[in-house]
Parts: sequence; C-alpha cells; structure tokens
Amino acid sequence: MSLSPAEALRLYLPECTPVLQTQAEAFAPSNIALCKYWGKRQAALNLPVNSSLSISLGELGTRTRLQVIDAPSDEVWLNGQQLDADSRFVRKVSQFIDLFRSLTPARFRVTTHNNIPTAAGLASSASGFAALTLALAGIYAIPRDGRSLSRIARMGSGSASRSLFCGFAQWHKGELDDGSDSFAEVLSEAWPDLRIGVVEITTAEKSVDSRAGMTRTTDSCLLYEKWPQQAARDLQTLRQAIAAQDFTLLGETAEHNALSMHATMIASWPPLLYWQPASIEAMQQVWQCRAQGIEVYFTMDAGPNIKLLFQQHSIEAVRACFPTMTVVDPWHGPDPLQG
Ligand code: DP6
Repeated sequence: MSLSPAEALRLYLPECTPVLQTQAEAFAPSNIALCKYWGKRQAALNLPVNSSLSISLGELGTRTRLQVIDAPSDEVWLNGQQLDADSRFVRKVSQFIDLFRSLTPARFRVTTHNNIPTAAGLASSASGFAALTLALAGIYAIPRDGRSLSRIARMGSGSASRSLFCGFAQWHKGELDDGSDSFAEVLSEAWPDLRIGVVEITTAEKSVDSRAGMTRTTDSCLLYEKWPQQAARDLQTLRQAIAAQDFTLLGETAEHNALSMHATMIASWPPLLYWQPASIEAMQQVWQCRAQGIEVYFTMDAGPNIKLLFQQHSIEAVRACFPTMTVVDPWHGPDPLQG
C-alpha cells in the first residue's frame, strides 16, 4: 500500500508520545557514497532503485538549531543569513517540517550552518536533512532510534538516510511500497587509515540538482537499464573490500561506480554533464598518480568537485599532487545519534 509522506512519518516513528519542546540542536555529518544512489522507484517517499553505501565525513557537516517561534511562518537562516520565504531551500525545509507539524502544529526559527559548500556536490542536502531530522526529533521528544530516523530523513533527501551515522553506512533500498524496509544502518567495520581528500573545483550552485538529474536520467537514458545491476554488484564488492580492508578493491570499485553513474547522466537527454575542465584535469592527475605508484582513487557526486580516497600513509604524496585539497578523517567526529 502506498502512503502519503505524513502517513509514512507516523508509521516510521518509534514508539513514543511526541511532546513539543521549545528548542533543540543537532549535528549530522556529510557523507560520500562509494556505491551511489541514483534513481527512485517511488518519488513521494524517496524510495531508491538501488541500495547504496557511504562513508560519513566526520566533523564536516551541518549543525541545525530549532526554536519554536510565535509567527505565521518558519524563519530560516543559512550560514548567518535569513533566507527569502519563497526560496527553494525554505520551501523544502518547511515542507519537511510540515510532516512533523501534523503531530503538533508549531512554527520554527531554523538556524543552520554548513561547514561544507552548499549544493556543490558535497552532499550538503544529506547532512542538512539528517541534522534537521535529529533536531526535529529533539523538538518533538522522539527517541534517537537510527533506523526510524533514517527512514524519516530519507523523505527529506535520500542520501540523508545515511548521514545519521559515523563511518560506513549502507542504505537498504527495500521492496515495500510503504518504505518501512528502506533505511540505512551503520556497518560495524572501521577503517582508521582511510582518508578522504576534497578537491574543490567550484562552490557555485549547480544548475540541475540531484533530484532533477535523477528524473532526467531515468526518463531518457537507455544505459540506465543496466545501472541497478552494476550498483548491486559494486555494493557487494565494496562490502568484501571493507571486510578484507582491501584498499585497491575499495578504490577501484568506488571510482568505477562513480564513473558509471556519470555515464548514465551524460547519456541522458538533454545531457547532464556536471564536470568542469578542472574536474577532468583532477581525474587525469589521479590516474597519473596511480601510474607513479601512489594509490589514490576518486569519486564524484552530482557536481564538479572531486573526492579522493587514499590511506594515511600516502597523505604526503597525494598532497604533493593536490596541494589545495582538504583532508578529512572520517573517523573523527561526533556521533549524530548520541549528540
Ligand atoms: C549523486 O539524496 O541529493 O549524491 O533524494 O532527490 O534529495 P534526493 O537526492 P540526493 O541524491 C544524492 C545523489 C548522489 C549519490 C549519493 O549520494 O548516493
């Protein structure tokens, strides 16, 4: 049976009596998918075509504070600036809060800070909706149950379902129409030497967001028919690589997965090419590094920026090739569910 998002929220909520608090605050990390989520099988509840696997970015993410206000509409502040009530961002945030307002009506001041560039392919919608979900859980006194909150965050943005956890997270695509089996959970394995390098190509907002990009791909790209099969295979291989701490297998699989997703984007109509000339230069630089024996791989989301994957012992060699990269230690950061 398919449900409206508000009905789904009630189904996903853990056992509790929501009681409105006056304020709450939460942090959620951004995440980078090693096996990408690309395509929805159901848009209203954000149910994906394929399962995906990510690594959270430790201290890089979004902090969101909610305060109940006596006003006719929500007030949304992003990185110190109040946003226009009819901006896309405010509408998305308010629409998501509407789901919770069906429990107890209230209006909020939403103060949100990203320490990553917004909408430049660094998955800030993931940390944004995850932090908003956690803050709403605080406001409505809902227990921080990972599985329940992951299902709820998913309705804000699919990748947000994975941003409630530290380290590796796997989002199970699920089969059910009501989405109750579509949630992410943390993997028990850690990989303390694994590092992410963020190579910023531009901080400009992208012209086609992931949501529109996915629709365009699923509507117009014949190559996309093969994507679910590849994603399933890559996810299984990544699980093996993580279990065996086999960095070569992890890096090769993640890079191949990202390029395959971009191939479906490029083969859509109108074509969807998120790369800038500098993105291609960075990819070629990665391949050159590997040819010289420096083990580094890349992945990219729906944007021009490049994320490098390498191990701690290669950090100086990688930095020599990418002097401007920001190094992220995914294993240092607050646990969003504990905060
Ligand atoms: C390329 O989660 O931003 O980053 O569910 O429509 O909000 P919506 O899309 P979103 O898409 C992320 C796509 C991706 C791959 C990934 O993070 O898995």
